[in-house]
Amino acid sequence: MGSLKLLGLLLSVILCILECQGATQSTKPNIIIILIDDMGFNDVSFHGSNQILTPNIDALAYNGIILNRHYVPNLCTPSRATLLTGKYPIHTGMQHFVQIPDEPWGLPLSERLMPQFFRDAGYATELIGKWHLGFWRQDLTPTMRGFDHHYGYYNGYIDYYDHTHHMLDKNYSSGVDFRRDLKRWHLDNGTYATEAFTNEARRVIEQHDRSRPLFMVLSHLAVHTGNEDQPMQAPPEEVAKFSHISDAKRRTYAGMVSSLDKSVGQTVRALSDRGMLNNSIVLLYSDNGAPTVGIHSNSGSNYPYRGQKESPWEGGIRSAGAIWSPLLEQRGYVSNQVIHAIDWLPTLAAAAGVQLPANLPLDGVNMWPSLSGNLEPQSRRLLHVMDDIFGYSSYMRDNLKYVNGSSFEGRYDNWLGDLPTEEDDPLSAYYAQHVLSSEVQQVLGTRSLTNDRIEQLRADATHRCPSNEQNFTQSIYLCQPLEAPCFFNLAKDPCERYNLANLYPLQLQLLEQEVQQFRINAIDSVRVNTPDLRANPAFHGGYWEWWNDTTITAGSGGSKWNIFNWVWLSCLSCLHVAVKYAL
Ligand SMILES: *[C@@H]1O[C@H](CO)[C@@H](O)[C@H](O)[C@H]1NC(C)=O
Ligand SMILES: *[C@@H]1O[C@H](CO)[C@@H](O)[C@H](O)[C@H]1NC(C)=O
Ligand SMILES: *[C@@H]1O[C@H](CO)[C@@H](O)[C@H](O)[C@H]1NC(C)=O
Ligand SMILES: *[C@@H]1O[C@H](CO)[C@@H](O)[C@H](O)[C@H]1NC(C)=O
Ligand SMILES: *[C@@H]1O[C@H](CO)[C@@H](O)[C@H](O)[C@H]1NC(C)=O
Ligand SMILES: *[C@@H]1O[C@H](CO)[C@@H](O)[C@H](O)[C@H]1NC(C)=O
Repeated sequence: MGSLKLLGLLLSVILCILECQGATQSTKPNIIIILIDDMGFNDVSFHGSNQILTPNIDALAYNGIILNRHYVPNLCTPSRATLLTGKYPIHTGMQHFVQIPDEPWGLPLSERLMPQFFRDAGYATELIGKWHLGFWRQDLTPTMRGFDHHYGYYNGYIDYYDHTHHMLDKNYSSGVDFRRDLKRWHLDNGTYATEAFTNEARRVIEQHDRSRPLFMVLSHLAVHTGNEDQPMQAPPEEVAKFSHISDAKRRTYAGMVSSLDKSVGQTVRALSDRGMLNNSIVLLYSDNGAPTVGIHSNSGSNYPYRGQKESPWEGGIRSAGAIWSPLLEQRGYVSNQVIHAIDWLPTLAAAAGVQLPANLPLDGVNMWPSLSGNLEPQSRRLLHVMDDIFGYSSYMRDNLKYVNGSSFEGRYDNWLGDLPTEEDDPLSAYYAQHVLSSEVQQVLGTRSLTNDRIEQLRADATHRCPSNEQNFTQSIYLCQPLEAPCFFNLAKDPCERYNLANLYPLQLQLLEQEVQQFRINAIDSVRVNTPDLRANPAFHGGYWEWWNDTTITAGSGGSKWNIFNWVWLSCLSCLHVAVKYAL
């Protein structure tokens, strides 16, 4: 028994050393996810809009891959849960609404999250910015769920400058919603949120220990609204660039977008300065469509798509996105592969050589070979929305899109956010030149990106729906989703005008059966929508903070892990040296 144990120990030491050596030469790529909040499909200029120019984002997209058919859940909390789990919200209980600050629920602890898998594979893991997956118990918060560090906020939005979250419809005091790890953090009071998060991202990159790969989610507040009494906030110097926009709200929105675009340039620059960019994957996308009108409306535009955030339509679920990496064999093209937020966990893990547990029940698939090789689009079935409490669903088999019911009694079922062409940015006359002189393009320095190439890619990524067609208002095509389910052929009708349900009832039935299959396997929503008054910041020193005492430790999960690893790593390097010496 004793000798067996000794043998086992020896074996594990050898294995450890081998692994350790592998780790020091680690070539695993850095993963940088820039998650934008509530930005419209039509609010990046690579989709053709000339009103708000986004030269940095565009340069990243043109040098990488424009994700032309990138789908996401239609709301913050479900969308973020999907990214981190690789599962549909109906498989984690996150399908119904968002986490409201005083509601005691969050992403179930039974779920293992993307940062945990990457951390287990040796990554340093960082969350900067928004969480929105629950905080009523400390063990639901980011540093307890796989992130070594978190700098940012727990709720859906905060004030851009003083970082408070104020529930105006409740009688709570306003509370600061800002932390560094588990610590209350107010040293950055007054710094515009986009700048604060960008500064933190740069600090993380500059101080990163390059013997380890970095997994960083830069989860912006932009371009979500701030608190309801002052929803639109942008630095005056950014807003001043948009005097060509007459609507004051949209002008401030443009300043928010512009500030975000600058951040993308600075983040890419920081990666390059640190020598990390050439081994990085940068993914950028919006968590859902823009809320053009209604609750938290920011006047973003998803045009020409139908509907908006929190609706079953393309305007809510088709997200502006791009991915860039030198590890992608084919780059500089527009991808028409249908890809969904469920796919990022398996895709990024595969790209990084991070092993996921074999029995992990994922909904997503590895899209890396498809993206990297620019392969023929593969067939997909995607469940976009299934919220049986609000009572609506949205589903897609390849190009056939099924919609049953709607949100807000159908108030946002229309085509919103058409932009007046006479309000183009004067700089748009020199659009390609503007992109070529962006910070991202300066950093990447690719010569293959020419004026012509830019115009070509932009044309490929620009979406238009015939504007002169009136026949879709004929009753045979009319879609009244609150009355009866509809379906559309997105290949011919991406703007969801021609409901084909009356013409092809059999096809409709097939789609309904497929949706039914998803419903059979759905778990119930875990939302607890009874407010808990103990959430009131007045009870927590003026901060939004967990109010259930079921906590693991008083310290940070992050630092606990670090100490453990530090001991483990020093032990390993001791052995390493000892073995070298012995040989
Ligand atoms: C609202 O808060 C104020 C101040 O704490 C308190 O006096 C008042 O009773 C509260 N009202 C309600 C309806 O809870
Ligand atoms: C943040 O700064 C503003 C302006 O200086 C100040 O009025 C406010 O009290 C500060 N907030 C906190 C929580 O310190
Ligand atoms: C990336 O750049 C750094 C610094 O310029 C260099 O040391 C490293 O070898 C490069 N790595 C790759 C994979 O090209
Ligand atoms: C609607 O009318 C246009 C011509 O105005 C025609 O090209 C198009 O095919 C029609 N669409 C349908 C679905 O009937
Ligand atoms: C469509 O919605 C109705 C009303 O909510 C519901 O009874 C029906 O089951 C739904 N059909 C599908 C296939 O989801
Ligand atoms: C914390 O949550 C647990 C489980 O949800 C509950 O049983 C317990 O009473 C809560 N404790 C407090 C102090 O709220």
